[in-house]
Amino acid sequence: MICDLLIVGGEGDLAFRKLYLALYHLDKSQLLPDCLRVVGISRNPQSPEVFQGRLQASLVANLGESLDPVVSQRFCQRVTYRSVDAMNPESLGRLNDEEFCDRTRDLIVYLATPPSIFQRVCECLQSVGLVRPNTRVVVEKPLGHSRESFIDINRSLTSIFAESQVYRIDHYLGKETVQNLLVTRFANALFEPLWSNKYVDHVQITVAETVGVEDRWAFYEEAGALRDMMQNHLLQLLCLAAMEPPARFDASSVHDEKIKVLNSLKSIDRTNVLQNTVRGQYVAGAVAGEAVPGYLHEAGAKVRSTTETFVAIKAEIDNWRWARVPFYLRTGKRLGARYSEIVIQFRDVPHAIFPDQLAGNAPNKLVIRVQPDEGISLQLLNKVPGLEESMALQAVDLQLALSEAFTGKRVPDAYERLLFDVMLANQTRFMRADELEVAWRWVDQIVGGWQDTGQKSMPYMAGSFGPAESVALIAKDGRRWRENQPLF
Ligand code: BG6
Repeated sequence: MICDLLIVGGEGDLAFRKLYLALYHLDKSQLLPDCLRVVGISRNPQSPEVFQGRLQASLVANLGESLDPVVSQRFCQRVTYRSVDAMNPESLGRLNDEEFCDRTRDLIVYLATPPSIFQRVCECLQSVGLVRPNTRVVVEKPLGHSRESFIDINRSLTSIFAESQVYRIDHYLGKETVQNLLVTRFANALFEPLWSNKYVDHVQITVAETVGVEDRWAFYEEAGALRDMMQNHLLQLLCLAAMEPPARFDASSVHDEKIKVLNSLKSIDRTNVLQNTVRGQYVAGAVAGEAVPGYLHEAGAKVRSTTETFVAIKAEIDNWRWARVPFYLRTGKRLGARYSEIVIQFRDVPHAIFPDQLAGNAPNKLVIRVQPDEGISLQLLNKVPGLEESMALQAVDLQLALSEAFTGKRVPDAYERLLFDVMLANQTRFMRADELEVAWRWVDQIVGGWQDTGQKSMPYMAGSFGPAESVALIAKDGRRWRENQPLF
């Protein structure tokens, strides 16, 4: 693994907040080969000293621990900044001659730029000889706004790179607990026999955020929660929770199973969108005791808008395993707590024999907590100790906190995992083009349904858990959302 990493957009927000930090951690964990070099480029002229100063400052600001002086020195020596216009063949050609003329080294090109310039950049990379059999290109969302725009963006990549060279990031796939979901399902004999409509009543997936739209109002206004979160992160979680066991844990086996799930999603369109989706938009309220403005009064807000900052969907998977098992999905900004979890609610026992065992109150649920308190909890009904003739029963949780089970083990950030995977040329935790295309097709139908029916975003107070309609969405099926309860 001898490689060079070229970050286009090398002094942007993503680079400073996530990429250099992840690389620093990989370096600290001794996972970077000694010869790995990182070259950040952008059009801004900037002296090496100024860039190095910004790099150090960003590491200090984002690290959450003090910089290790030895690692920091080693890491900063690997990183060079060059003022290069990636859309100008002359400028990029000079970079190629000066930095990347050794064609035996693998080259990773991370496009930390808006997708609107992918085409030009890729063409330039090709024209100056930076697209080689051992080049990999990394991109991440927003990969489109609709199926059609995704196809355009994707064409700009695949007209130049082979699919095996393209790494499309969904950072949720790099999270430890998301990876652990597959291990829980497929490395234990316990759950798989129960993992179907025979024993599962329904599944809930929640990704709740306390942040608002931050400084991205203009972007968010175009995207909304459906495109920003549901199309990618929540659908990927749904795929991992619902897919069939792959034959092997490798890229094509995993992608083949995920695409089957996406292809089996029942369409939600103008005929059923009102029954199966809820849109919400936050109004002023308080999050963690602090007053916050509504979406329409956030910095940068320009127009009256109906964009959803919350979405809840009752999704169904039309296949043998999941027929009649709803997957309730919800995500939103400015909610009462930040947490992501998957809840597998099992069915009730067929016949209650204990007097205290309320039929219709199915006790068994498996909660996979993605963040922040990563772990798993399994709720079981137990006898309360005592001599009473009629036994008292109570639901209790068997809990596995990652931080306790693996004391002293740091939970790496998703970008560490994913960057390391790109270096190892492992595409398993990335998205294949067909997955994105099918996910967009499903989302486009929902957007079309909203437009045709004029479905509005219902107001919800910042600091709540979304509009009352989202409670009704699940309550009309006789179920309710699991309230946020930190697991440990
Ligand atoms: C991004 C979205 O993909 O994921 C953001 O664009 C969102 O709007 C973020 O805040 C959430 O990621 P995480 O890792 O903080 O849950």
